[in-house]
Amino acid sequence: MPEYFVVRGTVEHGDERGRELGFPTANIALRDQSGSVGDGVWAGWVRRADGTPIPAAISVGRRPTYYGADGYRLLEAHLLDFAGDLYDETLVVWLGAHLRDQQAYASAEDLITALKNDIAAATQWAANHPAETLPDPGEPPLGEVRRIKS
Ligand SMILES: Cc1cc2nc3c(=O)[nH]c(=O)nc-3n(C[C@H](O)[C@H](O)[C@H](O)COP(=O)(O)O)c2cc1C
Repeated sequence: MPEYFVVRGTVEHGDERGRELGFPTANIALRDQSGSVGDGVWAGWVRRADGTPIPAAISVGRRPTYYGADGYRLLEAHLLDFAGDLYDETLVVWLGAHLRDQQAYASAEDLITALKNDIAAATQWAANHPAETLPDPGEPPLGEVRRIKS
């Protein structure tokens, strides 16, 4: 039985660096700032408020490239082949396959190279794990990382 982490949360304004890097993200605040459950980079799915599923490359953690070890802990989803406004929308995010740990990169270029690999891996994972196969997450509290089984 595949296991997933699921996070439900409302999209907040980030520092807009994602747009500069060329990889905009939907940012969701995590309630638990001291823990590490689900930290890392993932292939997964995002479900919009209207029910539309969109594959995504997702980062959970503190963005050590920019904030060292004690940055604000959050979830950031880069939706694949998506352009649009998600601010203030409540999303459900399934973390399906752990791709790697978060890393402190020496430069923005190195982070961009890693992001391109993550996106390729997430694209492939989503093709093999269609949205119809995702387990029902129920309605977990906003900003909590929950483990569920299908
Ligand atoms: C798939 C993915 C992987 C990421 N991996 C890392 C990482 O390894 N290290 C890191 O510091 N930040 C990582 N990030 C976060 C980026 O640093 C972040 O998206 C960028 O700084 C933009 O932040 P903003 O949306 O608040 O502007 C990742 C983001 C995504 C979407």
